[in-house]
Amino acid sequence: MQASSTLAAMQAADALRATGATVFDFGAGEPDFDTPENIKRAAADAMRSGKTKYTPTGGTRELQNAIIGFYGRHFSANYEPTEVMATSGGKQAIFNAVVSLINAGDEVLIAKPYWVTFPEVVVFAGGIPVFIETEETGFLLNAEQVERAITPRTKLMILNSPSNPSGRVIPPAEFERIMELLAERNVYVISDECYLRFVYPPAEVFSAASLQPELRTRLCIAGSFSKTYAMTGWRVGYAIASGEWTRAMLKVQGHSTSNPNSIAQSAAIEALNGPQESVAEMLAEYTSRRAWLLNALREIPGITCNEPEGAFYAFPSIQGCLGAELNNSEDFARRLLEEEQVVVTDGTGFGADGYIRMSYATSTDQLKEGVIRIKRFVERLV
Ligand SMILES: Cc1ncc(COP(=O)(O)O)c(C=O)c1O
Repeated sequence: MQASSTLAAMQAADALRATGATVFDFGAGEPDFDTPENIKRAAADAMRSGKTKYTPTGGTRELQNAIIGFYGRHFSANYEPTEVMATSGGKQAIFNAVVSLINAGDEVLIAKPYWVTFPEVVVFAGGIPVFIETEETGFLLNAEQVERAITPRTKLMILNSPSNPSGRVIPPAEFERIMELLAERNVYVISDECYLRFVYPPAEVFSAASLQPELRTRLCIAGSFSKTYAMTGWRVGYAIASGEWTRAMLKVQGHSTSNPNSIAQSAAIEALNGPQESVAEMLAEYTSRRAWLLNALREIPGITCNEPEGAFYAFPSIQGCLGAELNNSEDFARRLLEEEQVVVTDGTGFGADGYIRMSYATSTDQLKEGVIRIKRFVERLV
C-alpha cells in the first residue's frame, strides 16, 4: 500500500522546519483557519453535560437529523435516519462504502487525477481500480469518458467534485448524464462531496442528493465536516445511502471503530444547525487567494494552470519545466524544497505526473513569498 503523497509532503516540510529553516508550504490538505468558536463551545458543553459515552454506531439521532435537515434545506432531498450514518471523517465513509460493496475482481472506475486514498481502498477490498484519463478535457470528467471505461465487471464508480487535487467541478448537467449512464448499467456510485461548499461562481454548488430518486438508488454520498468547518482533527463525516447499503456499512463500522467520537458529534450538530457565516468568510478568503495565485502562476514561464472551480487547490502543469535537469514532477517537488524551501505535492501520487498540487489554504504572505521562490526556481531551469 502506498503512503499518502500529501502526508509525505507534510513530513518533508516538518523535517526541514526541524532544522530551523523557514518553509513555504503549499502542501496542506486542510484549512489554515481554526474551528469556529460556536462549534468549540458546543463540544465543551457536550463534555460538561456528560455526552461522553458510546452512541449508536451510526451516530446520534440528533446528528442524523441535522444531516438530513441540511440536505433537505439545500438540495430538497428527503432522507430517512436509516439511510444516514455518521463516520470518523469522510475517509471512513468511503472506506465503509467500498469495503461493504466490493468483492475480489470487481472493477471500480476512478477518474484521474484522483485523491490518493481511492485506489488504495479499492485494492484493500480486493477490487481492481480502472482509471479514466481526463487530461484531454482539462481534467473535467464527462459521460463519454465514463462510457468508454465501463465493462461487464464494473461494480462501482467513485466521483469527486469538487476534485482533490484538480479543483475541477463537474457541471450539474454533466454530472446528471454520468449518473444516468451509471444507473442504466447498474453501477454503484460513491459521490465524495467533501469540498461541496467550496465552489467559486459561476460554477455551482451541486450535490448528487438533488438528483431524481431513480438516479440515487445505488448512490452513497460521502461527506465531511473537515474542510467546510475547519474540523480536520475532530474526525467526523457521514455517509448517505440506501437503507440496505447503510446496514452493510454499519456492520463494517460496528466491528471496527464503532461510533465516531461522541463530543465531535455534538460539535458537528452545531456546525450544521448553527450560524454559517464562518463558511462564507472562509470561502471569501479562498476566493481572493485563488484569483491571486492563478494570476501569479500564469506569469511563470513553463507553468500552465486550468482554472480550479472548487476546493482550495491549484493543479498546474510543470511539463514546460521538465527536460535536461528535471525528469518528472517528483524531481520538481524535491528540488524546489531543497533549493527554495517551498513545499508542493508531486502530482504522481494523484496519477498525474507532470503536475503539482498547490494548496492555497495558507496565508497570503506565504503564498506571495512562495510564488516568488517558485518563479526564481523555474527561471533557473528554463
Ligand atoms: C477528496 C477527499 N475526500 C475525502 C477526504 C477525507 O477527509 P476527512 O476524512 O478528514 O473527512 C479528503 C481529505 O483530504 C479529501 O481530499
